[in-house]
Amino acid sequence: MKFFIDTANIEEIKEAQSFGVLDGVTTNPSLMSRENIKGEKNIIEHYRKICLEVDGDVSAEVISTDLDGIINEGELLSKLDNKIVVKVPMIKNGIKAIKHFSSKNIKTNCTLIFSSGQALIAAKAGATYVSPFIGRLDDISIDGLNIISEIRKIYDNYNINTQILAASIRSPMHIINCAKIGSDVITSPLTSIVKLFHHPLTDIGLKKFLDDHYSVNKK
Ligand code: E4P
Repeated sequence: MKFFIDTANIEEIKEAQSFGVLDGVTTNPSLMSRENIKGEKNIIEHYRKICLEVDGDVSAEVISTDLDGIINEGELLSKLDNKIVVKVPMIKNGIKAIKHFSSKNIKTNCTLIFSSGQALIAAKAGATYVSPFIGRLDDISIDGLNIISEIRKIYDNYNINTQILAASIRSPMHIINCAKIGSDVITSPLTSIVKLFHHPLTDIGLKKFLDDHYSVNKK
């Protein structure tokens, strides 16, 4: 399973990249705004900076919702770097644009997926990735992981190679359960990735090993 970090914060991306386990980055307009990135020139420049920091795909989301606008924005973004994946919302014009991008070998991430039917349509249009938002489903008492299982089943039935990119991750258990189900990718905030490192028995065990070593060796 690939690990993407869900942030537009360069320091967080650098930290995750330093672990040596990072496979890519996803951003969205809210995450870009959180970094106070405004104006087309600065937005483009920020995507370039992100691409310099990471070995792997970088999702950059379009703002337009009309077909020509999505296509123009997506083509511009895709020219920035071959790591760029054009992130397109799951709307009718988004699906038409994904079909267009797919015919031009431009990578896409169909975002705001909340049902397996949406994931099926996006795959048929040729999306490289689909992003089911599991945390936001959990937030409204719908089992987000169940959507991942349904999409996995459908894609496996037909050997569909669109990758399931589980998004809106809220906890390390989301990551572990996505791995159990067979999600191709998770995109997570840095905090949930870092929580995977920890176990109290690891800390207790390491302390004991070091205490025993230094009980007979000088520091
Ligand atoms: C997906 O690509 C989105 O950027 C993201 O995972 C949404 O997460 P949120 O529900 O925590 O905003």
